[in-house]
Amino acid sequence: MRLKNQPCEAEIAPGLEPIVSSELADESIAITHTEKGLIQFTYTGELADLRQLKTVNALYLRYQFPIPRPKALLGHQHFQILLNAITRLQQAYPPETFRTLGIDAAGSDSSVMQRLKTELATAAHLYPDTEKGDLLLRIRRTRDQAEGWDVLIRISPRPLATRAWRVQDYEGALNAAVAHAMIRLTRPSREDRYLNLACGSGTLLIERLTAGRAQQVIGIDHDPFALSLAQRNSTASKVKPQLLQGDVRALPLSDASIDKLTADLPFGQLVGTHEANRTLYPDLLQEAARVARIGAPFVLITHEIRLLENLLRQQSAWHLEDLVKITLNGLHPRIYLLRRV
Ligand SMILES: C[S@@+](CC[C@H](N)C(=O)[O-])C[C@H]1O[C@@H](n2cnc3c(N)ncnc32)[C@H](O)[C@@H]1O
Repeated sequence: MRLKNQPCEAEIAPGLEPIVSSELADESIAITHTEKGLIQFTYTGELADLRQLKTVNALYLRYQFPIPRPKALLGHQHFQILLNAITRLQQAYPPETFRTLGIDAAGSDSSVMQRLKTELATAAHLYPDTEKGDLLLRIRRTRDQAEGWDVLIRISPRPLATRAWRVQDYEGALNAAVAHAMIRLTRPSREDRYLNLACGSGTLLIERLTAGRAQQVIGIDHDPFALSLAQRNSTASKVKPQLLQGDVRALPLSDASIDKLTADLPFGQLVGTHEANRTLYPDLLQEAARVARIGAPFVLITHEIRLLENLLRQQSAWHLEDLVKITLNGLHPRIYLLRRV
């Protein structure tokens, strides 16, 4: 499906704006508006290429209607615009990809929204959904304008960050779009000997390998169950990281043998405890410094902000180069870009 000058909106983890912008720039996509948690742009090109964006949570086609109230969307002209957009999107996918239609809006229970949902679903041969639906419409007032309403149509039956390769869930698994943003911060290259400490179900490893080839991609975790999930997710995504069972405080790797490192550390809430983290974090920083070559980036994400920032002040092996504050599942973790001194 080819789009021409189509207004689009990317829903992103708040705080990731600069990293998502850099991915859009790589695809020669010109941004028209950015605010916390969303980026708008006008797109000309294939829909399939938009679906390849890796750092966004979800992508929407945006239709702006100069109307005073959503009720006017039921009028023939506006309804037809929406129905045509939905039908085109359905045709871009195999039949039955979208089975249900949902509306996400303030007042989505109102009779107008319910009617709009039922009439659009019927006309598009879909079932109205009480939840989000495969074909999701978001309806809201047009930003920065006195009058007008936007209808956003999600381009995929699931958010883009819900990767098809995730066949095994893991408590505490990292959002794949955030993982991909972390990978971008390492500036992947095909010469990389890359290490993911505490790899869990393999999100960072898989995102590293989907970003391009590398000389070595190694994941280490002490939990055999987590490693079995990483193995199944990797197989589903047709990539082959090297998975090692071991303690990140005693890595089975030589000194200065790794070019790029990442870690999604236990936050001490769902995974691990604050008490265990007090000894894990300093040991891990030290061991990571041993295996990292001089100049290696180490990108890590954690919610143990005070603990990590205190530790960083007390050591000299890692220089803090950048800090990205994000919002994720209602928490405010930070992504740290460290550089081996
Ligand atoms: C937040 S989870 C990582 C989740 C992973 N990013 C994913 O998407 O599935 C943290 C991981 O650290 C591992 N871990 C905790 N302490 C460890 C240690 N001392 N050595 C190795 N792995 C450890 C846990 O088993 C867990 O899988």
